[in-house]
Amino acid sequence: MAEKKRETFGSKLGFIMATAGSALGLGNIYRFPCEAGANGGAAFVIVYLALALVIGTPLMISEFVIGRNSRSNPVGAFRKLSGGKGTAWPVVGYLGVLCAFLILAFYTTVAGWTLGYLGKSAAGHFAGQDLAAIQRQFSDFTNHPWLPILCQLAFLALTAVVVMRGVKGGIERWSKILMPMLLVIMVVLCVKSLTLSGAREGLEFFFKPDFSKITGKVVLSALGQSFFSLSIGMGALITYGSYLGRRDNMVSSAVSVTLADALVAILAGVIIFPAAFSFGIQPEAGASLAFTTLPLVFQQMTGGYFFCLIFFLLLVIATLTSTISLLEVIVAALTEELRLSRTKAALLGAVGTAVIGVLATMSFRAGSPLHIGAKTVFDLLDQITALYMMPIGGLLIVLFVGWKMKRGDVMDELTSHQTLRPGLRKAILFIIKYIAPVAIAVIFVSQLVG
Ligand code: PFF
Repeated sequence: MAEKKRETFGSKLGFIMATAGSALGLGNIYRFPCEAGANGGAAFVIVYLALALVIGTPLMISEFVIGRNSRSNPVGAFRKLSGGKGTAWPVVGYLGVLCAFLILAFYTTVAGWTLGYLGKSAAGHFAGQDLAAIQRQFSDFTNHPWLPILCQLAFLALTAVVVMRGVKGGIERWSKILMPMLLVIMVVLCVKSLTLSGAREGLEFFFKPDFSKITGKVVLSALGQSFFSLSIGMGALITYGSYLGRRDNMVSSAVSVTLADALVAILAGVIIFPAAFSFGIQPEAGASLAFTTLPLVFQQMTGGYFFCLIFFLLLVIATLTSTISLLEVIVAALTEELRLSRTKAALLGAVGTAVIGVLATMSFRAGSPLHIGAKTVFDLLDQITALYMMPIGGLLIVLFVGWKMKRGDVMDELTSHQTLRPGLRKAILFIIKYIAPVAIAVIFVSQLVG
């Protein structure tokens, strides 16, 4: 009965687009350039790509295996598949839901900025402005007493509305149209950025590795970034996997999403670094990097007003498809575990997120007391989730699929009920059992000890 009522995605393409919608977002366009800039450029990029492929894809597949086999939210999934009572495995599910909640809180801070910047581009605020003026606009906006909060709350409300409409009508339909559009506009921007004078230096920073820059911290940051960017290690993809059709190929879906995610991150870097070097913006500029560089690039273009507007519109949407997946984790858990209605669950999730999220937004203001140690609430939430909760969650997820779940069930899922070559599934299982857990554990522990 419960099985019958549960929604599924309408098609494999819809599933890929929704998963790509979750993966592609601020992590690629905003966080990736920030992290690459702060961690030395190209060396970080290479480690990041290697980790995304070697650990990220198998972990994503593991989440799909858990989700589709259990047809449950993360908490219910671990309970069902670990044999019910007396096991601690559902804790991994709870950890995931908590992680989704914390990410959503600080993610909507920047999501609010994208909405604010959409408004600014519509109003033509960037026309004829130089670097200093554009930098001032960013600090004026983030320091404004209520505007960023209003934008954040509006964004959360938008997210809640889509999630209330459910999986097929809301999430799938929008992702399918908007993801391809984002890719097209990014390619156009890339071409423009590459023709700016000084582009070469930026490209060298982004592509020419200095391996002496790779430290334990750089590798852990790259691991955290790959998890964040692929939406793995906290149950978002367990949740989406639970809506995947029985016969759809989860392996090829995971590979497509990983590649699309890497492509968009690289495109973002190719847009931002050449432009940053060309305008004299430091690659370590952090939060303001994307929000100052991009408006400046647009100004150099014919039709800049138009492109700027479309870009921020698509950025809002790419961000929205990610916040939707975060809220969906919470909603799936609340509806199935506490039997709340979808509407109530979405409202509760959004209100709870708003409370912490507003603190994260306020912690950005100059002189804000919302610091713990030297870190803002925003940075703290970002680091707790990406550097600790997601790697630990990811480790437990691969261990669960590799060592705890029934082998027959895992094989059934990996072959999508006997449609995939056996050689491939053995290789994937080998990575899930041995390589991924060892790699995550080594990176994580060496950083803690070091
Ligand atoms: N992957 C998203 C991004 O790169 O912007 C962020 C994210 C979404 C993380 C959903 C986790 C998640 F569950």
